Amino acid sequence: MDAAAPRKMLSRRPPGPLAGALAVPGDKSISHRALMFGALAVGETRITGLLEGEDVLRTAAAMRALGAVVTRDGPGAWRVAGRGVGGLAEPADVLDMGNSGTAARLLAGILASHDLFAVMTGDASLRGRPMRRVIEPLSACGARFAARAGGRLPMAIEGAKDPLPLDYRLPVASAQVKSAVLLAGLNAPGETRVEEPEATRDHSENMLRHFGASVTVEPAGRGRIIRLIGQPELRGADVAVPGDPSSASFPLVAALLVAGSRLVIEGVGLNPLRTGLLATLAEMGAAIEITNARLAGGEPVGDLVVAHGPLRGVDVPAERAPSMIDEYPILAVAAACATGTTRMRGLKELRVKESDRLAATAALLAVNGVAVEIIDDDLLVHGSGAPPAGGGLVATQMDHRIAMSALVLGLATAAPVMVDDTGFIETSFPGFIGLMNALGGAMGPA
Ligand code: S3P
Repeated sequence: MDAAAPRKMLSRRPPGPLAGALAVPGDKSISHRALMFGALAVGETRITGLLEGEDVLRTAAAMRALGAVVTRDGPGAWRVAGRGVGGLAEPADVLDMGNSGTAARLLAGILASHDLFAVMTGDASLRGRPMRRVIEPLSACGARFAARAGGRLPMAIEGAKDPLPLDYRLPVASAQVKSAVLLAGLNAPGETRVEEPEATRDHSENMLRHFGASVTVEPAGRGRIIRLIGQPELRGADVAVPGDPSSASFPLVAALLVAGSRLVIEGVGLNPLRTGLLATLAEMGAAIEITNARLAGGEPVGDLVVAHGPLRGVDVPAERAPSMIDEYPILAVAAACATGTTRMRGLKELRVKESDRLAATAALLAVNGVAVEIIDDDLLVHGSGAPPAGGGLVATQMDHRIAMSALVLGLATAAPVMVDDTGFIETSFPGFIGLMNALGGAMGPA
């Protein structure tokens, strides 16, 4: 993010319902991967629907710094001329991954199995996030890392000259760590094996296959075992990026909360490892219909039709967390307007997101008059059945999802909700405020 003055914003209850059809920007996870796999492939990768948010632009810049030719042809339309597996060049300068944990951790995997030296940094939020979770497994391929205390960025990486394949069981459910190991294994001879305790988003596995790698996945309890044959020749491919279900969750919940609303959100990615929020909202009584279900670029996609209606509190099991890990702040906003208590279990991983998202979510609700508790790693939101008072000033803590969740809450509360800095919304959802206002929202300068 640039260092411009914080962009304070107010969100207030609109005079009428939200209505219309919209498309949300491209999926962030798939966009990062399309650029990275494109850079590791031979030949040209053509991407449509790429998310042009700050996080993904950082990945594009890093791939250029490593020698790939990355070209923007028009809105969302990008081309990558790759250098082949193992073919990336040493970057001449520090790689700055901005606010993006996904960019940093996946890139660490790529760098670990290239014979080069690189230094990676990020903004104040990313420099506070744990990298040991990738340093530890990636060291086993022969790479060497030097990071700040606690495994924080900036971090120097000396990639392995002769990388070894990896065999790793993830201690936490993390698609980023899984993907980092697979990316390192790409340039090692033989089989790389990753075992995950719970199934997490499988965009890396799907896209690796799409680019010609041999990847097998077998179930193992609640998790999976993934095997990749190293040193494949990845071939450039076409990637159609679906709308980001995590971004769709903001207009979706807004429509549920604002009286009389009805929205159609078109072309949303519906990978079953990403749809935990839809399952939870259905249990809460939300009227959400999926229409026009189809496959696009190997991923399931559909349109979401959502209408305002009452919600009731539910118990959200910990096992569901990987399939809705980024949606807890906005679910908590929905829960604040529901009748009864919603208990969201097993949210330890939220503490190491762009902010301590468990604390930030609780604070965003508390300051707006919602009764909320954190018990161990669970978040409890006590909904009164009516929208909360509002009137609070929310500290976004460099976290795009906290900012958007607070602005959605303000569409329902009696008094407006103020957000201290909306600039970070650009990392994942450029144009969010304009889009919400075009649907009937009331967000503007404070
Ligand atoms: C992501 C994985 C998740 C998620 C993040 C994107 C990915 O992180 O929170 O927004 O693209 O692999 P973790 O792997 O840390 O759970």
